[in-house]
Amino acid sequence: MSSENRHPFLDGLSKHRGAPPTVVVIFGASGDLTKRKLVPAIYNLGLDNLLPSDFFLIGFGRKPIPNDEFRQLAHDSLVEFSRRDLDEKIWKRLEANTCYVDGPYDDSAGYKKLKDQIDSYEKEVGRDLQVMFYISTPPSVFTAVVSELGACGLASRNIGTPLASKVVVEKPFGKDLESARALNATINQHFEENQIYRIDHYLGKETVQDLLVQRFANSIFEPLWNRNFVECVQITVSEDLGVGSRGGYYDQSGALRDMIQNHTMQLLSLTAMEPPVSLDPESIRDEKVKLLKAIQPLELSSPKGDVVRARYGEGLIDGNKVPAYMEESGIPEDSSTETYAALRLSINNWRWEGVPFYLRSGKRMARRVSEIAIQFKTPPGILFSSSNVFDLSPNTMVIQIQPDEGVSLVMNSKIPGLETRTQPVRMNFRYKTTYGSNTPEAYERLILDAMIGDSTLFIRGDETEASWKIVTPILEFWKSCGNQCMAEYQSGSWGPLEADQLAWENNHHWRKPGP
Ligand code: BG6
Repeated sequence: MSSENRHPFLDGLSKHRGAPPTVVVIFGASGDLTKRKLVPAIYNLGLDNLLPSDFFLIGFGRKPIPNDEFRQLAHDSLVEFSRRDLDEKIWKRLEANTCYVDGPYDDSAGYKKLKDQIDSYEKEVGRDLQVMFYISTPPSVFTAVVSELGACGLASRNIGTPLASKVVVEKPFGKDLESARALNATINQHFEENQIYRIDHYLGKETVQDLLVQRFANSIFEPLWNRNFVECVQITVSEDLGVGSRGGYYDQSGALRDMIQNHTMQLLSLTAMEPPVSLDPESIRDEKVKLLKAIQPLELSSPKGDVVRARYGEGLIDGNKVPAYMEESGIPEDSSTETYAALRLSINNWRWEGVPFYLRSGKRMARRVSEIAIQFKTPPGILFSSSNVFDLSPNTMVIQIQPDEGVSLVMNSKIPGLETRTQPVRMNFRYKTTYGSNTPEAYERLILDAMIGDSTLFIRGDETEASWKIVTPILEFWKSCGNQCMAEYQSGSWGPLEADQLAWENNHHWRKPGP
């Protein structure tokens, strides 16, 4: 087969088959994430023959759960959440290698049982195993888990060999700069940086990985990707769902911590960073950190501030009436938590000086969509300037992360006919049409990469701190003004008027992402 005809994924597969024999230990095993994402991701890796031949799964949690019951829960979660139907043959293999260990997170007793279980698996297969700890517990016990893993020697198992232990840490990684630094310091006491995998599941999404390919494997975009041609960049991560049953967690967090500090900032840094010198993890992460460091301090106080926060009022979603945030269960009467945040950022570097980057994320918005829109400058001249005849839009490249993943280019075109009339049209590439619709879930890629030791799609310690450095002053400012600078938007809308204002001040308009 010529290299031109080879399907690129084959290279990925052959690399991925190199996962060493592994035990994955999930802390927080009875939680939602385990059920919805982690167990289905592991099963789907098994289905694709990407798990090592010696693979074991141990659930760890406070609640005592008999092994059979845990296996049944895992089975049920596959039936409900796996992207592909359950193949009983694969499940039986996984089931036989799955068990549960219970114990308090902050006491050595459970960790002793865990160690014994890992030792017995090693005896069974007659060789050393890599252990990958996946911490998916509430943040309040992160530190306890990491410290206990250090104290009982599990963190330093096989250190200095290819089977050294690894730790995967779920978000939220801290709640501000200070706590993120403290968390990094605790983890670094017990694990080396190359053993640590901080997750942001957006980096596991196909379209987010494709961003690097779009930018750096094509020569037509790069010459335009700068202040000479780009008018502004808009990054939208909107959801139509409300907080649902997560009110208790969400009210401690809010849109800025829950979405902007992590997922949206990741999209921003991949969009705006300089080309890395190579595709190795450190080169890419160096460029991302450099970009975050170039973001200018924000103007916080209005009018003309760079930040807007808001929460949803009641409204209609899919024609159904939905309650306001303050009416959702678990939300305290004196809550001052935002469900929407918008930021206008300036990047002080050679490439982006003077180009505003608008970021927004919110719950209960008009549609669920994550997209990056690069809006180009309008052409000079007055050839097509009569607004009655010429319907024109700025050229915009839209990278749609989800749903309906793809890339489109908005251009202006003449409507066929004897008069010269124009309208914007879209050139569309859709993953579904080109590659089919069953793409791997983000967690499949991330769990596999962590097992193999590829940290490209994980957040480095300094990166998470750089991003907290940008958002912490906003959190402090909002805290100081209580509910005073809290706008409201109708559920089912595209956000508050104050956010429109943010864009209008620079003669820009937020996009209304269509279906
Ligand atoms: C999580 C947030 O990190 O991302 C949730 O905590 C949010 O509030 C979710 O709903 C969105 O993820 P996705 O993959 O559905 O866009």
